[in-house]
Formats: sequence, structure tokens, C-alpha cells
Amino acid sequence: MKYKSQKIAYWFWAFSMLVFTIQLTYGFFMGFARVGLDGLHQWIPFNTAHTVHLNSLVVWLISGFMGAAYYIIPEETENELCCLKLAYVQLIALAVVAVAALVGYHVNYWEGRKFLEIPRPLDWLVALDVITFLFILLMTMLKGKRQTTTAWVLFGGLLGAALLYLPGMISFDSQILDSFFRWWVVHLWVEGVWELIMGAILAFLLIKLTGVDREVIEKWLYVIIGLTFLSGILGTGHHYYYIGVNKIWLIIGGIFSSLEPLAFLGMTLWALYMYEKGEKRHPNKIAIYWTLNAAIVSFLGAGLLGLAHTLPQTNLYTHGTLVTAMHGHLAFWGAYASIVLAIMMYALPNLTGRKRYNKSISKWAFWLANVGIFTMVSAFAAAGIAQVYMERISGFDFGQVQKLLHPHFWVLITGATILSTGIILLLIDFIKFGLPTDEALEYK
Ligand code: HEM
Ligand code: HEM
Ligand SMILES: [Fe+2]
Repeated sequence: MKYKSQKIAYWFWAFSMLVFTIQLTYGFFMGFARVGLDGLHQWIPFNTAHTVHLNSLVVWLISGFMGAAYYIIPEETENELCCLKLAYVQLIALAVVAVAALVGYHVNYWEGRKFLEIPRPLDWLVALDVITFLFILLMTMLKGKRQTTTAWVLFGGLLGAALLYLPGMISFDSQILDSFFRWWVVHLWVEGVWELIMGAILAFLLIKLTGVDREVIEKWLYVIIGLTFLSGILGTGHHYYYIGVNKIWLIIGGIFSSLEPLAFLGMTLWALYMYEKGEKRHPNKIAIYWTLNAAIVSFLGAGLLGLAHTLPQTNLYTHGTLVTAMHGHLAFWGAYASIVLAIMMYALPNLTGRKRYNKSISKWAFWLANVGIFTMVSAFAAAGIAQVYMERISGFDFGQVQKLLHPHFWVLITGATILSTGIILLLIDFIKFGLPTDEALEYK
């Protein structure tokens, strides 16, 4: 690392890894409940497990992005982070609010809107925390010796995510309006501003790992942003097909969301091309693995599996089924989990001074996690297609269909076990790196 203050990233990522394990644990609770093994039902019913699973996912990814920003911005601006103590307070506050929310879900302290379950008073604390985070970044950037596109795109994405959190905090009496604005958060995050965050982290990693000129890499970043906004904003329409709003959204949503995979394809081609073009191969191969994984699997999970159910004719049947879960898992894994793990694996040797580059444990972690998630996604796909045919097309009873899907959920549990083994190895690897130290300064 080049700047002492970058060390704070480690603690955000340590928190991420902890919350990631909670997410996986609650995933298992749901997986077993789906095959009828629901012994915990009295204390952790399915809805609680679902909420904890989704919210812990969002928390560990956001903490991962914050760590990434605190690592990247000093290096991009050639400047120590401003207000380092405040940044530590911001981390502790984030952890306290997140834990309060996750515990609250167990005692029915929640709002019941998928992904936005955090109760309103805690929402305000989240907003305050994020404002503090953005303030620290902005002050650092304004004082910086250098202004780069990568840094500003990263900041723009994070600021956009903060602003788009607000429509989710307005109260509506109408279910339709509530649903309409919920998508401004959920959709415009993952198919809008989070793509900027991903694009910027990817740009940073490509600059470091391939040795290709910054100018070339950043030029393409603009193209990605253009494609993202062009398709993603009106692409929100793919959530408005049958919720009670104007029917024009059937056309708008269908056309623009079908264009969204282009932005993800753009990212894949960009990363692969830069990798090919680069003459300098960084010794940290595992960081290259995760970086290319993010670029490629995001296209498969978000682009292709998104396209699979984005037309109104298809979505009429697949909406809210396990087809959505199939897509949700691979999209989140490919785009956001992988990019957070990529920057982590790139930065850990630099923060700790330990050159644990090409250990077999990190390769096993990578492959097991990917084989596991692909197995899970295949299980969800098989279950989802069967569910659509039986329940939506043939009109079988809901409960009967759920029983018929049990074999697929056993495959899901098998895949989840492989994935979790990979993540346990990753965690061991993380711990073996040891703590960040000033002795690692200038360690690249
Ligand atoms: C990394 C980017 C993406 C992520 C993380 C993601 C994740 C998700 C998640 C979690 C849901 C369920 C949301 C909910 O019910 O609250 C969802 C729904 C959906 N996604 Fe994506 N998605 C991404 C990109 C895309 C793209 C590019 C497309 C289209 C090409 C797409 C098409 C859809 C559709 C049509 C639905 C609605 C499914 C339904 O009606 O149940 N997604 N996505
Ligand atoms: C131990 C591993 C995991 C297991 C057993 C698991 C299991 C599940 C189950 C059973 C559901 C509910 C599906 C339904 O009934 O509708 C679910 C939902 C979800 N999980 Fe996981 N999961 C695991 C890991 C992950 C990971 C690593 C991610 C993200 C990278 C993830 C993201 C999601 C999302 C986004 C949803 C909501 C899907 C939707 O909108 O329909 N899960 N998971
Ligand atoms: Fe969407």
C-alpha cells in the first residue's frame, strides 16, 4: 500500500466476511426449510431467514464497496484519507446499525418490503452513516493531488446509491406507488449506480493488474456508463408490467431492459481485451481470477439470465418464481460478490505485506465457490422452470408443487455446501494474511 490510511479498508472487509457467513447460514435455514426440514421455524421462520439472507447480502456488499473506496481513493488522489478517526467511527456505526437491524428481524421489527425491510428509524441512521462516508471521500478527493475518472465514477456511483435510497423512505398509502418507488432503490441500484461502482473498481483493478494505460481503460469506462444509463434507467419498466401502472411500460420495459445485457457484455469484453492487451502480468493471479470472474459471470447472471425473463410475455409466467431466484443468485454473485472479493484479494497482500499470492487454498476457494454457485443456480433453474409449468401453466396447487420441487432443493443444498466450503477456505486465507501493518507501506 502507499498510504497508511488505506489500512481501514481491511476492517470494512473483515466485517464483510463476517456478515457473509451470516448470509450463508440463513441461506441454509431456507434451503432446509424448502425440503421440509424446518425445525427452527418457531424461532426463525422462513420470512425472517429470507430477510436476514437478503439484508446481510446487501450489508456485506456495501461494507465491501466502502472498504474498496477507502482503499482506492487515497491511491487515485495521491493523498491520505481525510478524517481517519471519523472513518473508523463510521465503520462502527455501520456495524451497530446493521446488527440492530438483523437482530430486529428476529422479533418482527421490520417493514416487510423485500430488500427494504429496515425499519424507518434505522433508515435515518443508515443515511447519516452514508453521508459521513461520502463526506470523507469528497474531502479526500478535493484535497487530492490528482483527479481521475476512476475516482469520480466510483464517487458518482456511491453518491447515486445514497440518493436513490431516499425514494424507499417515503411512505405511501397506495400499494402501487409503494411498489413503483421501491424499484427506484432495488432496480436502479443493481442495474444502475452499482454498475458504476463495479465499473470503477474493475477499472482500478485492470489498471493495476494488466499494466494497460489508464487513458485506454478509462476511455472504455465512459462507454460502459453510457450503455448502463441508456438501458438501465428505462429498463426499470420490466418491474412495472403488471403492478397496476400505465400499460406503456410493457413496451418501454421490454425494449430497454432487453438492451441492458449490452452494458454487462461491454464490461466482459473490456476486461478480457485489456487482459489480452496488457504486457505486464501482475504476480497476484488470484486477484486476476476474481476480476475476470466478475467481468464474465456478471454477464451470464445479470445479462443472460436477466434476459431470460425480462420480456412481458415471459415475465407474466415467471414473475416471483424460482426463476427469479436463479437469476438473482448468479447476478449478485457475478457482479457484486465477485468484484468485492477481487479487490479484497488484490489489496490484502499490499495491506499486510504478506505475499500469499498463489497459494493453493485461495485457488480452491475460488473454484469451489464458483462450482457451488453454478450448481445452485442450475437447481434453481430446474426448480423454477418446473414450477412455472406446473403451477402457472397447468394450474397445480401451490403446496403440491412445492413438494414436487424437493429433489431440486437437495441439489441446491449440495451446491450450497460446495460454495460454503469455498467461502470457509477464503475466510481461512483472509485470516492467514494477518493484520494490516505500516511495515507494508510501499508494498505493491
Ligand atoms: C447485477 C445486476 C443484477 C442483479 C444483482 C439483479 C438481481 C435481481 C433480483 C435480486 C431480483 C428480484 C428482485 C425482487 O423481487 O425484489 C431481480 C429481478 C429481475 N431482474 Fe435482475 N438483476 C440484475 C440485472 C438484471 C438485468 C440486466 C436484467 C434484464 C436483462 C434483469 C431482469 C430482471 C427481471 C425481469 C426481474 C423481475 C423478476 C420477477 O418478475 O420476479 N436483471 N433481479
Ligand atoms: C449457502 C448458500 C445459499 C443458500 C442455501 C441460499 C438459498 C436461498 C433460498 C432458499 C432463497 C429463497 C428462494 C425462494 O424461496 O424464493 C434465497 C434467496 C436469495 N438469495 Fe440465496 N442462498 C445462498 C447463497 C446466496 C448468495 C451467495 C447470494 C448472493 C451472492 C444469494 C442471493 C440471494 C438472493 C438475491 C435471493 C432472493 C432471490 C429472489 O429475489 O427471488 N444467496 N437463497
Ligand atoms: Fe430490474
